[in-house]
Amino acid sequence: MTQMAWQGVERRADGSPEWAGAGTSAGTSAGTGAAGEPLAEGGVAIAAESVPGRRAASTRHGEVILDLQHISLAFGGVKALTDISFDVREHEIRAIIGPNGAGKSSMLNVINGVYHPQQGRIVFRGEERRKMNPTAAARQGIARTFQNIALFKGMTVLDNIMTGRNTRFRSGLLANALWWGPARNEEIAHRRKVEEVIDFLEIQSIRKTPVGRLPYGLQKRVELARALAAEPSLLLLDEPMAGMNVEEKQDMCRFILDVNQQFGTTIVLIEHDMGVVMDISDRVVVLDYGKKIGDGTPEQVKSNPEVIRAYLGASH
Ligand SMILES: Nc1ncnc2c1ncn2[C@@H]1O[C@H](COP(=O)(O)OP(=O)(O)OP(=O)(O)O)[C@@H](O)[C@H]1O
Ligand SMILES: [Mg+2]
Repeated sequence: MTQMAWQGVERRADGSPEWAGAGTSAGTSAGTGAAGEPLAEGGVAIAAESVPGRRAASTRHGEVILDLQHISLAFGGVKALTDISFDVREHEIRAIIGPNGAGKSSMLNVINGVYHPQQGRIVFRGEERRKMNPTAAARQGIARTFQNIALFKGMTVLDNIMTGRNTRFRSGLLANALWWGPARNEEIAHRRKVEEVIDFLEIQSIRKTPVGRLPYGLQKRVELARALAAEPSLLLLDEPMAGMNVEEKQDMCRFILDVNQQFGTTIVLIEHDMGVVMDISDRVVVLDYGKKIGDGTPEQVKSNPEVIRAYLGASH
């Protein structure tokens, strides 16, 4: 089961791994992209070095804003997470990688309060919490997208993105229902913010389209838009590029980097495409069978023997 389709990692003739991205395999096998830039196989040409300020940004990370300590989570007899500790620093892009079933999505669900770990501490912005529900997490500035798109398919793009503002509505239900006074001003402010997000993600032309009619890649972008509408300080992305073609992945990479750089948003990213992970992440945590087997910069993780073994499918 560990031998999986992790995109962007291949075995060289000498048995060592060939990692896509970050200047390694980019350009080795898959031709060139629309702009003539080399593409990693199964990955995208979005070398961080090509993004102005990216490397400089990685040196200006702030303090730890999220500290996960000894987290264990089980579903009945299934141990989804076992004694996992890692932290997330302000403004960084922190990737979580690992084979299918490694516990990545469970970890995100712990961070935003969907699952409550049986053991461990979670410290967010200096405050310890044992339990948090997703609404409370949203109020504290944590937003997320889901592995399986969770949008209202019959509603328009605009209305779906508007739901991202829900946690920010302050006026009472009655005032909102009557479209009166503060509620009216509030709604206008919300709409303005939503329009900003629509412009930022370049989806003006589909704003009135029902989400269910959009191709998959655009639905993923709308989900990102909804998360951004909440103006999060911590953004959790669960496989935002899964199922996308190369061009769509390039766009999504660019948007994620722009969000990180322009708004300073801290991002926790689950992604299977190693080209993407190695190119855009500042630090990577590696899970396997619910345990942490690696943690560090992309370079450190790439040369970690345990990670290499998991990637290349050595028997467990
Ligand atoms: N709600 C749940 N009830 C029971 N078991 C669960 C639940 N959620 C996750 N699991 C189990 O926990 C383990 C970790 O699952 P998780 O979805 O976190 O993995 P993942 O790393 O996100 O995998 P993938 O790459 O396939 O998305 C798996 O064995 C899974 O079956
Ligand atoms: Mg998952």
